[in-house]
Amino acid sequence: MQKSNGVQPANVLWHQAPVTREHRKDLSGHPSVILWFTGLSGAGKSTLAHAVEEQLFRMGCRTFVFDGDNVRHGLCSDLGFSTEDRAENIRRVGEMAKLFLEAGIITLTALISPFRSDRERVRSLVPQGDFLEIYCRCTLEICEERDVKGLYKRARRGEIKDFTGISSPYEEPDNPELVVDTGNLPLVASVNKVIGSLHDRGIVA
Ligand code: ADX
Repeated sequence: MQKSNGVQPANVLWHQAPVTREHRKDLSGHPSVILWFTGLSGAGKSTLAHAVEEQLFRMGCRTFVFDGDNVRHGLCSDLGFSTEDRAENIRRVGEMAKLFLEAGIITLTALISPFRSDRERVRSLVPQGDFLEIYCRCTLEICEERDVKGLYKRARRGEIKDFTGISSPYEEPDNPELVVDTGNLPLVASVNKVIGSLHDRGIVA
């Protein structure tokens, strides 16, 4: 695969790797793909992504999860929750996911990624069909009721600014590859839905 469509650095040439994505696919027995889980905080993105990963791992697939909360402890620890910082957060994870795609890995990301334009930018980084947007659909009411991390309560009290769903928007995907009703569906059923979709697409046997 060639470079991204961003600004090309001057005097830096692309080095063609002799071990290609195709070789890695032959070795592992499965193609790589990006599974981009998006949805409100508390919708169940991380839970679902990790449960799907576990299932794929048991099936012998090479996998990795980029979890928003975890990535923000390292790679993106300098970023906050302004529109610009979120865009940069998504860009970095998107570029990382693109590298993992080249590495032959089924790459799962669990980030709110609230803005359509940021998600579409990542989609445009990789060949068509390699970015599967999975919308974890769960109403704000349910997320707020769950409030696993207690953040919604704090956001309502005004202690956290730019909080998605409260004081910062979430733009639903227009045409995601998959919608999972994580607000109602039990985890096992959600996992089966994702694995089923991968099966239908010929990614797993
Ligand atoms: S994203 O918008 O840039 O995609 P990301 O998924 O990395 O967000 O991080 C979201 C997590 O950060 C939430 O699950 C929550 O635990 C925490 N968080 C802290 N502050 C905010 C905020 N203002 N808005 C949303 N999530 C926040």
